[in-house]
Amino acid sequence: MRLPGKGVQLLLFLLLQMELTLGDSSRMSNHTANYEQTTKQILDKATARMRTIWDLKRRIFLQLTAKGKSPLGGQALNGKQEVESETYRLQYELAANLSVVPVAELDDPLLRRRVQRMAKLQLQGLRPKDYEQAKDLLRQTHNFVSGALVCPLEDCSARGPMSMDQQIVAKNRRTKLYDDLLINWYAWRKAINEKETAKSTFIDFVRLLRIAATYNGHVTPSRTWYHHFDTENFQAEMETVVWEIMPLYRELHAYLRHEVRIAYPKADTKSDGAIPAPVMDQILSQDWYPHQFFRTPHPSKQHQLPSVHRRLEEVLVTPVKINRKAAEFFESLGLNHMSDNFYEKWSRRMKDDEGGPDCKSQVYYFPPDVALRYCPKLDYKKMMQMHGTMAELQYNIYKRQLPFGLDTEPCPGFGAAMAETVILASGTARHLFRLHILLNDSLTEEQSLNRLFRMGVHTLVAVPQYFINDKFLVDVMDGRIGVKDYNCAYWHLQDKFAGVQPPSQRNNRDFDLDFKFYRGMNPETSNTKKFLAEILGFQFYRSFCLASGQYKPGDPDFPLHNCDFYDSKEAGKKMRDMMQLGATRHWRDVMEIATGERKLSGRGILEYFAPLFTWLKERNKQLDIEPGWDADELCRKD
Ligand SMILES: *[C@@H]1O[C@H](CO)[C@@H](O)[C@H](O)[C@H]1NC(C)=O
Ligand SMILES: *[C@@H]1O[C@H](CO)[C@@H](O)[C@H](O)[C@H]1NC(C)=O
Ligand SMILES: *[C@@H]1O[C@H](CO)[C@@H](O)[C@H](O)[C@H]1NC(C)=O
Repeated sequence: MRLPGKGVQLLLFLLLQMELTLGDSSRMSNHTANYEQTTKQILDKATARMRTIWDLKRRIFLQLTAKGKSPLGGQALNGKQEVESETYRLQYELAANLSVVPVAELDDPLLRRRVQRMAKLQLQGLRPKDYEQAKDLLRQTHNFVSGALVCPLEDCSARGPMSMDQQIVAKNRRTKLYDDLLINWYAWRKAINEKETAKSTFIDFVRLLRIAATYNGHVTPSRTWYHHFDTENFQAEMETVVWEIMPLYRELHAYLRHEVRIAYPKADTKSDGAIPAPVMDQILSQDWYPHQFFRTPHPSKQHQLPSVHRRLEEVLVTPVKINRKAAEFFESLGLNHMSDNFYEKWSRRMKDDEGGPDCKSQVYYFPPDVALRYCPKLDYKKMMQMHGTMAELQYNIYKRQLPFGLDTEPCPGFGAAMAETVILASGTARHLFRLHILLNDSLTEEQSLNRLFRMGVHTLVAVPQYFINDKFLVDVMDGRIGVKDYNCAYWHLQDKFAGVQPPSQRNNRDFDLDFKFYRGMNPETSNTKKFLAEILGFQFYRSFCLASGQYKPGDPDFPLHNCDFYDSKEAGKKMRDMMQLGATRHWRDVMEIATGERKLSGRGILEYFAPLFTWLKERNKQLDIEPGWDADELCRKD
């Protein structure tokens, strides 16, 4: 039961209703009207409270960006906590108040949707004490990933302990020794799971997720985890996509395994085997690294991708200019123009030392305003990321017109998927040519394949991992995997969906989950959300590219992977129509507007990577490599 208890809420609801009824006797018999009015009153009050929270956020933004103030002054930090706790209190109370509204009695579909979305919560539905514990546990898991905890080889004398993300990851990226990868792989797991810390943190968190589900009346806890997707069996839909792209994944996997065997003769990779996890981690970390151990399709120098860095500095000169260029992309589509007022008042540069070497720009939402704090880095990756950030700003500008509760994306990851499309477009040769950064609007065939290969490593290796991590969490939550089987169940998933195996024999006393799993325990950064953003992103991209005529299936001059839908009002209309709807409709309705499809599908990815697929198949055949894997049972259930 929710505090202060549904009974009390129901009583209050009826009392409020009686007041209304007595005040307007002509309506005495019309329940619907009364329910609606009562509900509206509750929502109006909540909106007013939300406004005070937005005001607070606005003050924090202004304070953070005032000249001469330290960026993380004590006051701003307190302010952030206040925003967080006020938001929680509001959501929690509102959900309690709305949980007794007879939704079926409401005629107004928008009102019904607002109630449905806000009456059920995830972690925010927990009582204050449990909620605090959940946040504590998330801080701990965050520390597993980012805390300086690891001393590989027990040697911390030189530089002190290291963090997984970024230090160990960066170390692994550079090494050419299999032993280094192994040492780091074991050392981090040992560090976080000394006295079973990692495992018990996980168990405690799952317990809270289950409690949160009971508050929603969900017998199956994953219904709360997937609540925002509002779908019967969302996991099955994700799995279908994983199988859909599996033929492509298997070819890439086979090619990579061949490369692994050459680079690391010591690694255990039989010709039909799975790839050891430490190497797979390295592969993923080297996607855009210039000295990766695996060879791209055309490794010789003349086929390397043209370096854009110098031209980028010459052409774009300052981060502000990058922002303006990114904003212009959306203006060319017919979306909002970012006014001078925005740049003067609501766009601020982060301090140079803030956010580290890979700082991420932040978008603020406090209607009627939206604001930006941007990372002042000037490179290709930041240029693309800024296009994604601008997408988020545009989305906020459209959503802020909608009633509180519907001024969000229709499901987690939906906004990121739209951002992904612009990121993809902004990185094409065609777009870089438009910006005068490249001298040609297309790459040579060889370069193009090299680029697709790196993109493929980046995307295709990551997608099954999002799925595996999400499925593991959900299957544990729902009780399909028991405590005694955690580790081997995890390796079973790695084997089945990714062809990845542990580096040596493991058992159920070990706890080998990788750092991206821990990151995904936080609903804000869940693997579900990342999965959806990636898959839907390619679906949107395909449909924007078709609409703009920049992708012509079968025409080698207009392949999907070089599509830049800049300036296309047709693509812009699709994007705007989706943004304007916010959460007023089911995400399937919203995606249908743009794509004509109502389901996640691997089609966007498959068409995007089609030339890579063809090349991989031929290459593997030449080398007599059989795709697929035959796993050793490397986890023993004892
Ligand atoms: C009750 O109120 C609703 C909303 O105002 C209205 O649509 C409906 O026709 C009313 N029904 C009756 C029986 O008066
Ligand atoms: C919930 O209802 C209580 C009792 O009517 C009220 O005091 C409180 O302000 C409401 N809170 C929200 C967020 O609706
Ligand atoms: C651009 O590249 C294409 C493909 O390599 C080539 O055919 C074309 O001549 C190039 N155009 C210019 C202007 O260099």
